[in-house]
Amino acid sequence: MVNIKYVHGYSDREAMRLNDQADTLDNIIHNDTIFSEASFVLEAGCGVGAQTKIIATKNPDSRFLSVDLSEDSIIEAKKIIEALNISNVEFRQADIYNLVFKDETFDFVIICFVLEHLHNPLQALIELKRVLKKGGVMIAIEGDHGSTFFHPDSKQAHTAIDCQVHLQKQSGGNSNIGRELYPLFKSIGLDDVSVSPRIVYVDASRPQLVEGFIKNTFTAMIEGVREEAIQQGIVDRLTFEKGIKDLYRTAESDGVFSYTFFKGFGTKN
Ligand SMILES: C[S@@+](CC[C@H](N)C(=O)[O-])C[C@H]1O[C@@H](n2cnc3c(N)ncnc32)[C@H](O)[C@@H]1O
Repeated sequence: MVNIKYVHGYSDREAMRLNDQADTLDNIIHNDTIFSEASFVLEAGCGVGAQTKIIATKNPDSRFLSVDLSEDSIIEAKKIIEALNISNVEFRQADIYNLVFKDETFDFVIICFVLEHLHNPLQALIELKRVLKKGGVMIAIEGDHGSTFFHPDSKQAHTAIDCQVHLQKQSGGNSNIGRELYPLFKSIGLDDVSVSPRIVYVDASRPQLVEGFIKNTFTAMIEGVREEAIQQGIVDRLTFEKGIKDLYRTAESDGVFSYTFFKGFGTKN
C-alpha cells in the first residue's frame, strides 16, 4: 500500500464504488471517449481499472498505458482487465507528478476523477502535457460537489456532503474542481479547449441511476467519510446519520437528485 492520504481510501468497498460509478456513468462521461485508430493513450490515475475497462473496450485499436501510484490498485486493475480478456492495456506504477516517459510519447492523455485529489493539479497537468505529442489531446473528467441539488432538500444532507468537501480539502484536494477545468487547461497552454457539463439527473423513472448513482456512487462516497468526520468533530453523529438518511430519501419514488460532472478536451500545439 502506498503511503498517500487519499480521502476515499483503498478499501474493497471503495473499489466496488469506483466500479459502480464507472459502469453507471459510462454513457454520460464516455460517449465521446473515442481515440483515433492506433493511438497510444496514457491513462493517468487508473485506480482499480474501473474506467480502463470501459475506454479500452470502446477503443480496441488503441494501445493503453494505465498508471497509478498505488501498487495494490494496479494489481486489482490487472485482474479485471485479464478477466475481461482485454488485451490492449499495460499497467505501470507511476507518479503523475514525475513520469519516467520521454517528452511527446502519447497521442492522448486521459485523467478521470484524479485531479480532485491532487494538492497541485496544475503541476500534474504540466507533467502530463510534457508527455503528450504535439497535436495530441488531453482529456480530463472531474465532478463538482457544488453542483449537487436534490428533492426533498435537507440541511443535514448538505452538511454531510460538506464533511466530504472539508476532508478532501484537508488532504490537499478539491471536490469542486470540475468548474476549474477550463481555466486549468487554458493556464497550461492547451488550445481548442472545450469543457462540457455532464449532468446526471435522476428520478424514479431512471431506476438504474437511482441504484447506481444516488445510492451506490454518491451516497456511498459521502458515507465513506462518516467516522473521520465524526472523529474530527466536524459533525455530530446524529446530524451525519440524518444527512445520509435524507440522501437515501431522494432515491424514493418522489425523489430527485442532480449532479454535474465536467469533461474537458484540449490540444497541445
Ligand atoms: C478516485 S480514484 C480514480 C480512479 C479511476 N480513474 C476511476 O475513475 O475509477 C483516484 C486515483 O488517483 C490515484 N492517484 C492519486 N495521486 C496520484 C499520483 N500522484 N500519481 C498517480 N496516481 C495517483 C490514486 O491512487 C487513485 O487510484
